[in-house]
Amino acid sequence: MSRPASVTTPSGASLETSITLPTTTTTTARAMNGGEVNLKMKFLELTFNTMMSMSTGEAVGEGFHNSSEENKWFFEVLVKDNQPASLFMIPGDYLPWLRYFDVLKIEKSVAEVGRKSDEYFQKIIERFRKEYYVEKKSKSVLDVLFSLQLENPEQYNDQILKGMLLTMFGAGQDTSAITLEWAMSLLLNHPEKLKKAVHEVDNNIEPHCLLKDSDISNLPYLVSIIQETLRLYPPAPLLIPHEAARECKVEQYDVPSGTIVALNAWAIHRDPKEWSEPDKFMPERFMPRDDNNNKSKDIMFKFVPFGIGRRGCPGEGLAMHLMSLALGSLLRCFEWEKLVMMILI
Ligand code: HEM
Repeated sequence: MSRPASVTTPSGASLETSITLPTTTTTTARAMNGGEVNLKMKFLELTFNTMMSMSTGEAVGEGFHNSSEENKWFFEVLVKDNQPASLFMIPGDYLPWLRYFDVLKIEKSVAEVGRKSDEYFQKIIERFRKEYYVEKKSKSVLDVLFSLQLENPEQYNDQILKGMLLTMFGAGQDTSAITLEWAMSLLLNHPEKLKKAVHEVDNNIEPHCLLKDSDISNLPYLVSIIQETLRLYPPAPLLIPHEAARECKVEQYDVPSGTIVALNAWAIHRDPKEWSEPDKFMPERFMPRDDNNNKSKDIMFKFVPFGIGRRGCPGEGLAMHLMSLALGSLLRCFEWEKLVMMILI
């Protein structure tokens, strides 16, 4: 299903967006003069660059034009094309008996992705290790890992380092990009909420300035939009399967040790006993309240897009900041408008 919309830049250039949702999520913004911007790709580039500069201290840049062949390959093969083989989408991880019917050959494709990404991360490690030994700069995640490797080479061997990088890239990239795309789509389908968000950004950020990290705390509605998007469309709807380390009881259910437990965040987020009008896009429900009620306690167990507890997502703070800055910047720099009225939810 295609939903065209139009975008006007502050300089007056008119853009047109067309959004295809929900199964094949592709969002493109197109300038009337012919140029075309695929927002999904831009979001993936943004999150890839963020992960890259965090891990190595070096961003890849826009469009990957000046990037190394390996980086281009990694982005094309692993980020852009291989999303079905991503961490969260292997049916056999949730229902192990499905592995016997691996008709989509997902496990084979995941093994191939694993082999190729191992080669890719090995090259990255070797390249940046040389620089680290010359400068010992300790600024990126890899620099910290190299210093740990020097102290304890057996525990922090290359295999462990590659595993850490792969987890960060695998867990942190697609999740934030998908959420940003849903947020834009929801806003385009709810112009009154879009107007309110633009108003908040314009009223709290100095004219002609982009957003800074410290601005986020003054933009509660923007943050609420991200939270409401994560409630409606959690990127990991069943979180990640966990295994019960010992026998336990959850309400009336006995869970034997070794049981694979999946937590249905999607169902919890849309439970009418917990949320009023659960299918409706209402960022207001996340706005800080005036009374003294502790909001975070209020929603702690019914809003779980990042999981909860000791194995909850360690990237939550980073992801919320990144997504708020990205969405706020889009609202600041462009005028968004949908051309054809189509209701998404
Ligand atoms: C919208 C953004 C994100 C969402 C919705 C998300 C969601 C999740 C979820 C549901 C889990 C599993 C929690 C559980 O099983 O209880 C997880 C784990 C994890 N996430 Fe995220 N995540 C996001 C962004 C990030 C980012 C930006 C990073 C890092 C840079 C990251 C790193 C990780 C890691 C390393 C784990 C595994 C933790 C463990 O196994 O102990 N995530 N995430």
